[in-house]
Amino acid sequence: MATVTMDKLVNLAKARGFVFSGSEIYGGLANSWDYGPLGVELKNNIKQAWWKKFVTTRLDMVGIDAALIMNPKVWEASGHLATFTDPLVECKQCHERYRADQIDLSAACAKCGGKGTYTDPAAFNLMMKTWLGPKEDATATAYFRPETAQAMFVDFDQVLTTTRKRVPFGIAQCGRAFRNEITPGNFIFRQREFDLMEFEYFIHPNDWEKTFEYWLGQMHEWIKECGIDASRVHDHEIPKEELAHYSKRTVDIEFDYPFGLKELYGLAYRTDFDLSNHAKHSGARLEYTDPATGEKYVPHVVEPAFGADRTFLAVMLSAYHEEEAPTSKEGETDTRVVLRFPPHLAPIKIAILPLSKKDELSSVAKSLAERLAKQWRVEYDETQSIGRRYRRQDEIGTPYCVTVDFDTLQDKAVTVRDRDTMKQERVVIEELPAYFQSKLSLTAA
Ligand code: GAP
Repeated sequence: MATVTMDKLVNLAKARGFVFSGSEIYGGLANSWDYGPLGVELKNNIKQAWWKKFVTTRLDMVGIDAALIMNPKVWEASGHLATFTDPLVECKQCHERYRADQIDLSAACAKCGGKGTYTDPAAFNLMMKTWLGPKEDATATAYFRPETAQAMFVDFDQVLTTTRKRVPFGIAQCGRAFRNEITPGNFIFRQREFDLMEFEYFIHPNDWEKTFEYWLGQMHEWIKECGIDASRVHDHEIPKEELAHYSKRTVDIEFDYPFGLKELYGLAYRTDFDLSNHAKHSGARLEYTDPATGEKYVPHVVEPAFGADRTFLAVMLSAYHEEEAPTSKEGETDTRVVLRFPPHLAPIKIAILPLSKKDELSSVAKSLAERLAKQWRVEYDETQSIGRRYRRQDEIGTPYCVTVDFDTLQDKAVTVRDRDTMKQERVVIEELPAYFQSKLSLTAA
């Protein structure tokens, strides 16, 4: 179970520059978050590793990068305008609004203490509205996409024609999605704008069950590769009556967050719901002809959907460790906080730490940092004692620290310290690129 509370994690994230609260100098904007210098590296590494695993290393997968705002008819056809809703209730006393399925309606209002005074649940549409152009009326109304999926259906025929892919194949996309959530919260877990990584895998209708099992296995493999603690991950079969409007089967992959067991990812069998509806609404033919048999059919779809922000959160929670460790003083220990990221996800791969600020050391250390930075994300730090600098790098999950000391000037070697074992070894500077190549390339994105 969780070894770290959300408070601790949020404080570390803010103090070290992983995630800040958004618009802070203006008093913030409730539940908006900015990824800082380390956060953007971690999130980019997650997205790149995902793209590499599910797109570029596979012959049956291609990607797109579509517009965030699509023709509003897309959302009519997909069913989102009619059914992408959450049940909303309002406290009659203080007018605080809640998601009816997330509170006990017989309990007192969390804000004012009023009891049993909620309005009846009403369907609240989560689509984020805007206007295109200067007229703010119904003819100019448009929506920020609530999922990236629809562009993969709308562009299906163009992708098929240009790539000449054969079923089974998938179209992937990674990008921002917007939902006017009634109750965002729990740090970056539920936001009104977030990054989705998902793909639509097009298949013959007869193959859906085996395809579903295959992708469920692949999703668990990905979870392991991210260093997400498998003992905190559970599959949840969504009961028939709770399925989304487009799904015939959904399995949510849940994670034990400090605030409870909640969704990490979703895997859905969307049948031919989307392609058939877009064909009906647009008049386009969205079907496939099997070149071997001549059979014409509308492909069915299995969709693995991954939230990048929830991946980020589960990776941080799984990586966080506190342990007693020796300090630089003989016989002394203290508590060290260490983020044990898999090296390919770590925001900084190598820290270069000259033992002193003296020119002869810092010039060697800086030129080494510049050399290694051509290949890996490197941080250069010459402030504070070496013990404190090691602890800081542990806290941001840097797998390797390189210390440049006065012996370096003679033996042209440095000390490399491993984050997890804290073991140190002397490595000749000229051999460092090959050394890190072998250490960091195993799973490097
Ligand atoms: N195309 C299918 C789809 O969008 P979903 O279960 O609604 O399915 C997919 O969303 C994933 O997006 C979720 O499993 C979760 O990881 C992430 N997600 C959903 N809502 C979110 C929110 N408000 N904030 C952050 N991530 C969210």
